[in-house]
Amino acid sequence: MSRYWNERTRAILPYTPGEQPRDQKYIKINTNENPYPPSPRALEAMRGAIGEGLRLYPRPECEALREAVAREEGLPGIDHVYMGNGSDELLAWAFEAFFEPGRQVWFADITYSFYPVYCGLFGLDYREIPLREDFRLEPADYAGSPGGVVLANPNAPTGLMLDNANIEAVLAANPDVVVLVDEAYAAFSGQTAAGLIDKYPNLIIARTLSKSHALAGLRVGYCLGQPPLVEAIRRVKNSYNSYTLDAVAQAGALAAIEDAAYARAQCTRVIATRERIRDALLMRGFECTDSRANFLFVRYPGVPGAWISDALRRRGVLVRHFGKNPRTADWLRVSIGSDADMDRFLEAVDGALREYGIGGL
Ligand SMILES: Cc1ncc(COP(=O)(O)O)c(C=O)c1O
Repeated sequence: MSRYWNERTRAILPYTPGEQPRDQKYIKINTNENPYPPSPRALEAMRGAIGEGLRLYPRPECEALREAVAREEGLPGIDHVYMGNGSDELLAWAFEAFFEPGRQVWFADITYSFYPVYCGLFGLDYREIPLREDFRLEPADYAGSPGGVVLANPNAPTGLMLDNANIEAVLAANPDVVVLVDEAYAAFSGQTAAGLIDKYPNLIIARTLSKSHALAGLRVGYCLGQPPLVEAIRRVKNSYNSYTLDAVAQAGALAAIEDAAYARAQCTRVIATRERIRDALLMRGFECTDSRANFLFVRYPGVPGAWISDALRRRGVLVRHFGKNPRTADWLRVSIGSDADMDRFLEAVDGALREYGIGGL
C-alpha cells in the first residue's frame, strides 16, 4: 500500500495463481497444465518466426489465426472469432465490454476465482449463486439475470459439465444480457456450445490453447460469438493494446490449431489417465466428482483437505487446495499428469493415508 495508489488499486483483490515452483523436484499437478509437449509443428513454426521479422509489429488482427479457428470450429468466418493473450485476457475484455456497473452479473459460488476479480476491477456488482449440495449447477437458478451470466463449462474446480440443452436453457432465459461460457476445459469433455452461436446473439464463448494444446506458456486464447459481440471485444482490446498477441505466438498458435489431430490425441490420453486415476481413488475410499476436465476434484471423508495437500507436498506432489471457501475446504483439485506422474501421485496418496492411520492400498 502506498499513498500513490489510486482508490481502485487500493480496493482490488487480485487473483492468486497456482504455485509455480522454480525447482523441478515436484510432481506438479496443481495448475491444470497438459503433461505432454506441444505439437512439434507448432514448435517448428515458432522457431521459424524468430528472426529479423521481429523488427516489425505483429498482425494486430491475427487474421490467419482467426481463419484457422473459424475453420476448425465450423464458424462462417473471422468475424466470429477474436484472439487474446490467454483466455484470461479475453475474459477480462468480455467483462469490460458486456457487463454494466449496477446490474448484477451472476455466476456460481464455486467456479473460476478470476470472475469476482474482474468484477472488482471493473466496478461490477455480482451475485454468487450457490451450486447444489453435490456441486451441480441448476440452470433454472440463472433465469433473468439483470446484468449477465458467466458459466465455466466444464466448471472449475468441480469438473462438472452442463450439457448443451442446459446451456441453451440459460441462454434462452437471458435474452437481454450476454451469457459468457468459459470453455477452457471443453476439449476434455467432448462438448462445446459453439454450435449454438448461430441461434443465440447473446452467447460468447472463451477458449484457450493452454490446456488442450499444451501451450500454457505461450498465452493464446480466443473467443467465439456472433459478429457484434466479437466487434465489442475488438473495441475493448484496441483501447488497451493493438498488438496483444506477438508474432511468435501467432505462428505457433496457427500451427497448433492446424495440427488439430495432435491436440485431440493428447487430450484423449489425458482423458484415459483421468478415468484410470478416478477409479483408483474411488477404490481407496475417495469421493470424486464426475469430472469432464483435465483434473479431478476429490476428497477423503474425514481427512482435512489441507492436511492431505500438505502430506502430498511432503512427498513431492503439488495439488491445488482451495482453503478459503468452507464448501471446498476438504476438496483437492488434482490435475492429470502423465501416467508415470500419476502413479507417483497414487504412491504419495497411499503414503499419506497410512500416515493418517488409514489403509491406503
Ligand atoms: C476456468 C478457466 N478459465 C480460464 C482459464 C485461463 O486460461 P488461460 O489464461 O491460460 O487461457 C483457466 C486457467 O486455469 C481456467 O481454469
